[in-house]
Amino acid sequence: MPMPMPLIDQLGYLAFEVSDLAAWEAFATGVLGLAVARRWDGGLALRMDGHAARFFVHHGPADDLAAIGWQVADEATLEAVAARLRGAGHDVREGTAAEAALRGVVRLVVTRDPAGNAQELYFGPARAAEPFTSPLVRSGFVADDLGLGHLVVSTADDVATGAFYRDLLGFKLSDRIACTFYGHAVDITFLHTNPRHHTLAFGGPQPKRLHHFLLEVRSLDDVGAALDRAAAAGVRIAQMIGRHPNDKMISFYALTPSGFQFELGTGGRLVDDASWEPCVHDRISEWGHHPPERYAPRRPKPAAPGGAS
Ligand SMILES: [Fe+2]
Repeated sequence: MPMPMPLIDQLGYLAFEVSDLAAWEAFATGVLGLAVARRWDGGLALRMDGHAARFFVHHGPADDLAAIGWQVADEATLEAVAARLRGAGHDVREGTAAEAALRGVVRLVVTRDPAGNAQELYFGPARAAEPFTSPLVRSGFVADDLGLGHLVVSTADDVATGAFYRDLLGFKLSDRIACTFYGHAVDITFLHTNPRHHTLAFGGPQPKRLHHFLLEVRSLDDVGAALDRAAAAGVRIAQMIGRHPNDKMISFYALTPSGFQFELGTGGRLVDDASWEPCVHDRISEWGHHPPERYAPRRPKPAAPGGAS
């Protein structure tokens, strides 16, 4: 079957259902450096770039991913991708006017990937009236035409998930990482839909629908400052700073108030489909990314006091 051209321009937004909305607002603004775009009864929208909103945080019990927003170029592309999904047997529902208004888009359709992760495909996002600036993230986020970042979703069947995103939505293979990491077998597939090295990755079932989402900043100083803010706020660090071998991102991982993780990094590479050759990496990090509780014992132990009584 001929591979389709990429149909998705970018990861446009993420929607979360969270049990503690106040904690999320404090975390998103005070640790991540996002800005509140608007609030409504039971939710808030956050921004990070020229888009009016990149995150929709809804109050509810799930503490998990609620929807992935995939941006396409125009109405003809939206109809083409909806037809492609329906042709492959997927249920595709037209979004309501209220749903489109909530997301700030012209039109959206709703479906699910094979693992049940909600997908909202849309065109025509609202743009912010003012450029984004943040006193916390002074270099700014790498977003706009590259999308808000990337995400790693849970899968029940990596083959079915790969076929959905590659054959139906047009994602292309970036590479894989297959290795063991602190005793766990890891086999992660990375896909891109624009020059960002990967916009989506998956590697088997996870405790929640979302393993992590990534935000990229433009300076290493802003990664370090975010790590300091996370530590100061009592956020649990899952993996200390390190560099991945495939996207070259220097990043750390920590927990959101909902228990899934975020990654915050800098220096992610871009891929050019004209010359890109997918490969398999045999390690998840070139250096670092150690869980802090595992890394601590590597420190030299102080000499035992003599003559203990
Ligand atoms: Fe990541």
